[in-house]
Amino acid sequence: MGTFESAIRIKSLRKSFDGGRDFVLNGLNLDIPKGMITVLIGYSGTGKSVLLKHILGLLKPTSGVVEVLGKDLWSMSDEELVKFRCKLGVLFQHAALFDDMTVLENVCFPLREHRRDLSPATIVDTAVKKLQMSGMEEKHFAKLPGELSGGMRKRVGLARALALDPEIILYDEPTTGLDPILTEMVDNLILETHRHQKGSTSVIVSHDLFAAFRIGEHIAMLDKGKVLLSGTVDDFLKSDVDLVKRFVDKGFYKK
Ligand SMILES: Nc1ncnc2c1ncn2[C@@H]1O[C@H](COP(=O)(O)OP(=O)(O)O)[C@@H](O)[C@H]1O
Ligand SMILES: [Mg+2]
Repeated sequence: MGTFESAIRIKSLRKSFDGGRDFVLNGLNLDIPKGMITVLIGYSGTGKSVLLKHILGLLKPTSGVVEVLGKDLWSMSDEELVKFRCKLGVLFQHAALFDDMTVLENVCFPLREHRRDLSPATIVDTAVKKLQMSGMEEKHFAKLPGELSGGMRKRVGLARALALDPEIILYDEPTTGLDPILTEMVDNLILETHRHQKGSTSVIVSHDLFAAFRIGEHIAMLDKGKVLLSGTVDDFLKSDVDLVKRFVDKGFYKK
């Protein structure tokens, strides 16, 4: 990869749940470059979502360091950490919208929570802009999530993730379970969003190698709680590591 400025640095990260001896993450080291799209790949159950939750400061390491934008997450006070998290936007697999709030209310929510300095009118204006950026039509703004298609829910989830103009945007399996057309739509939306949010860093968890190669500038493959390989698409194509080769072959046979 050459040298790059890191947005996220993870050092010797280990995680076991409930004080157990099974480490889901077991000495994981990873540098995620600033301003680029990084895709985290790996078979199901290898700890990708657990890693993402560490980056978000939602899970605390058993040991090791998680540094985001130059700050060690767990050297901050709870209050500082809550504030710091505003620099991160996340789109979870099922969009996790509030089902009893309208589309517009869903996107206003983080602004009302964290931007008390903004007037109610500015909050609505900002939310409308984010929804438009995510490709939502105004006629849907007053609807409840239950009235929307899967693709539209993704768009609303993305608009909400972007509400606070995050420096880092994380996506956990954004296209899992979607049909090929919706998958391409969401992949393109991720690319457009990345280009639009100048200087932002995007991190996408996926088990779709095909998408990883299409949109990822930097790819890291997880296995057994560690990073097996971290590099460019080229590094992956040239890799001699058996498991990487198998994953790459599988990714290409798929389509
Ligand atoms: N809160 C939790 N408590 C106990 N085990 C967990 C928890 N979250 C994840 N795990 C375990 O960690 C492993 C990795 O999970 P995950 O990160 O979700 O995998 P994936 O790579 O598919 O996203 C799994 O074995 C899962 O059961
Ligand atoms: Mg997962």
